[in-house]
Amino acid sequence: MRGRGLCVTRGLFITIEGLDGCGKSTQAARLADWLEARTGRGVLRTFEPGGWGGGALRSLILAGDVPDNRTELLLFLADRSGHLASVVLPALSEGRIVLCERYSDSTLAYQVWGRGLPEAFVASLIASCGFLAPDLTVLLDIDAGTAERRLGARGGADRIESAGSAFMARVAEGYRELARRSPERIVAVDAAGTEDEVGARIESALLKPLEERLRAG
Ligand code: TYD
Repeated sequence: MRGRGLCVTRGLFITIEGLDGCGKSTQAARLADWLEARTGRGVLRTFEPGGWGGGALRSLILAGDVPDNRTELLLFLADRSGHLASVVLPALSEGRIVLCERYSDSTLAYQVWGRGLPEAFVASLIASCGFLAPDLTVLLDIDAGTAERRLGARGGADRIESAGSAFMARVAEGYRELARRSPERIVAVDAAGTEDEVGARIESALLKPLEERLRAG
């Protein structure tokens, strides 16, 4: 585990990322079971924003009247800070695997590529916060049109999901660029297809990097 900041951890920190409508929550549930069976370790499933009982902050971010992009960014970072301190780091220090839906790659893809905030500004804030870097990230790669169709079937879009097709296409491109830059950490998996097909792809793509991380840890 590449520990950054004050806390030395023993567990494994895995994040799962992708556009709204990519099937993240469904695949996270399957992946948690698979990780537990495969490693014999306890897996804590969590999510951002709001996975630490920070529900009020989640509501503010997703439903509230957020006046500008910088405020939105800072709310996500505040949420991450609380989530790390109260949920992620304690579980990792007990040697558990933490599987988190969304993390800093969401901030880069949505707030930089999506909203247009300068990358250097966002990256420097993330770095200054000293947030722990994930050991591995699964990116559910899907084109914006397919994700939008899936979301449409679900109904009840939140503030960010309602940002429009061009926004989501930029976020998708952001994710792809992040995956190109960090091939060691980010495992990109084609998220088109049935739940079983995508689940099988994730498992086969994770086998080797997971073994390597467990051996190193
Ligand atoms: P999510 O929980 O995936 O939404 P839902 O429960 O409706 O599937 O994420 C909430 C939204 O927040 C999603 O549109 C992505 C966005 N987001 C950012 O823009 N930046 C961030 O840093 C994070 C963590 C999420």
